Amino acid sequence: MKVDIEKFGRIAVITIDRPPVNALSQALRKLIEARLDEAAGDDAVKGAVLACAGRTFVAGADIEELGEVRPPTLHAVIDKLEALGKPSVAALHGTALGGGLELALGCTFRVASRDARLGLPEVKLGLLPGAGGTVRTTYLIGAEATLKLAGSGNMMGAETAQGIGLVDAVFDNDLVANAIRFLSDRIDADDIPPPVSRRREAMPACDPQALDKLTAELCRTARSSAPELAAQSVRNALTLSFEDAMAEERRLFETATQCDRFGALRHLFFAERAAAKPSGDVAEAEPRAVQTVAVIGAGTMGSGIAMAFANSGFDVIVRETDEAALTRGMERIADTYDRSVKRGSLSAEEAGKRKARIAGTVAIADLASVDLIIEAAFEDMAVKKTIFAELDAVARQGAILATNTSYLDVNEIALSTTRPSDVLGLHFFSPANVMTLLEIVRGAETAPEVMATALKLARRLGKQPVVVGVCHGFVGNRMLQARNAALSQLLLEGARPDQIDAAFRAFGWPMGPCQMQDLAGLDIGWRNRKALGETDALPDRLCELGRFGQKADKGWYLYEDSRKPQPDPEVDAIIAEIAEKSGIARRVVTDAEIIERTHGPMIEEGRRILDEGIAARSSDIDVVWAHGYGFPRDLGGPMYWDDHLRESAQEKKKV
Ligand code: CAA
Repeated sequence: MKVDIEKFGRIAVITIDRPPVNALSQALRKLIEARLDEAAGDDAVKGAVLACAGRTFVAGADIEELGEVRPPTLHAVIDKLEALGKPSVAALHGTALGGGLELALGCTFRVASRDARLGLPEVKLGLLPGAGGTVRTTYLIGAEATLKLAGSGNMMGAETAQGIGLVDAVFDNDLVANAIRFLSDRIDADDIPPPVSRRREAMPACDPQALDKLTAELCRTARSSAPELAAQSVRNALTLSFEDAMAEERRLFETATQCDRFGALRHLFFAERAAAKPSGDVAEAEPRAVQTVAVIGAGTMGSGIAMAFANSGFDVIVRETDEAALTRGMERIADTYDRSVKRGSLSAEEAGKRKARIAGTVAIADLASVDLIIEAAFEDMAVKKTIFAELDAVARQGAILATNTSYLDVNEIALSTTRPSDVLGLHFFSPANVMTLLEIVRGAETAPEVMATALKLARRLGKQPVVVGVCHGFVGNRMLQARNAALSQLLLEGARPDQIDAAFRAFGWPMGPCQMQDLAGLDIGWRNRKALGETDALPDRLCELGRFGQKADKGWYLYEDSRKPQPDPEVDAIIAEIAEKSGIARRVVTDAEIIERTHGPMIEEGRRILDEGIAARSSDIDVVWAHGYGFPRDLGGPMYWDDHLRESAQEKKKV
């Protein structure tokens, strides 16, 4: 770690260098402060450029140290920058995020490379910017634009930032040289605005009602009240003096760092990165090149996987067994893209490009030269083994053969080929073009370079990978089964589907298990149980009556003319009848009991998964649940919740 200073004529260039992302630790702040003192004290220096070495400008405060107050604070460093006594310009490349953008706001000007991105992502950690990010930004670009940035945590491109006045100039190359020239020109023209903190008067106007509406929208999208913090601080920027607004922002920030939510979200931040990183023999292995991909099966899963690849620029061949099924699949793909265009989330031109990347075939021989083949056929071992034997005969040597099975034994599938070291599981979650989780299933013989390739691919696809071992249902579905095993019993004892779902939503889940089963189709579990020779009287009866869920307009709920679930007296009667036959006395079941009896077994299963080495770390399990099933991020994942929050939540309830 170092911070250099070099003079180019009358301009000093201060370069921050702390790989990988120049995160602002206390030690780094000290070094920056010293260089600022040097620049301030040198009369020959008439202006300063603040730049970064490596792949990015400062990507934020050091998240490891957040919550600690150790001098010099970021506030103090930014104040020093503003009070330099000479104009300054921040040269932004890569990602200028959080404390990094706040540091840049301490400069008189900001210039950026065209591909730079700017953002205030603190909300994703349950925080708000703590060093002037909401206050100075409001002065510069207005309250609404600031709230959009700080309340969503999303990044914006350099050109957009220039359009709203957050950035003063954008350059295609030679960023630092251009920054020096930019500052020199402004000095020569005597065109130096006051520090951002003194631009309150020039603040763009804002409609307070629009601010309230935007806040509500941001909270809804984030499924969290965290955007409220940024909204409160933005309102303070409008009404209080700079000093008071800054003090309040700091107070809100410090309070937020003491909350359980911050601990949980910080845990997920590091958990996600740990899960994505190759380790052990995989870290040593060289990934294989993947340019072309084939998907076997054009059903919901297969077409979703094909779109996930096409969306990331891959050429994809979709293979079906007959022309009719292929046509249906290709139509499904086209419809999905057309809907995105209609919704406005994709341009017609981009949709066209993506569609053009997906070709269909019924001839397995057409897959002879592709680099990766993903089987997404019917969930049946015999079917899968036949497909893999066929693939073994046609795929080129070195091609990777993956199965998208949700439950089945990847080792058994691999053994139907002569090259089990090239076989692995790539378990996408439905809809595969939307959901971020990718369970990468390592078989007994999967080669390390095949695993390394899958991890690299996940990054290219914008997916969150988690490496898991072979067992029935891997990490996610195995725990889901344990969670759902208690459902029937709870219902028979007296809970109602809508009560169970409401208890789950109150916990923070986007939807409850009955709603989720109706959405996915109750027949999937039914088929699975039958294959294993198991029964579950209640859902089995619903399926016997054709109540497969939303697709049949009835399941646990009734769906008349809409997707809105309505409690159905027929289901209540079925539950009461089976309870009576089974000799179960009906009683009041509390919401707390619902959570305890569903989450407890699921966490116990998680512990077994760890003991068996199916997941490498407890935090990997949390990542699976946060990305694959909507476990409330604010609670950090089931294992974190159990280890850190469960008891304190129960204590709080008692008080
Ligand atoms: N603090 C500490 N470490 C960080 C970090 C940060 N702010 N940002 C990234 N890192 C680390 C990661 O943990 C990772 O470490 P390992 O290699 O040891 O796993 C490494 O940097 C690279 O990160 P990524 O794998 O995420 O790399 P990427 O290229 O995919 O993404 C990034 C880079 C966009 C900067 C992404 O890392 C990111 O979004 N970082 C977080 C940014 C953020 O939240 N900043 C705000 C911090 S809070 C703040 O600043 C408060 C304030 O107001 C004062």
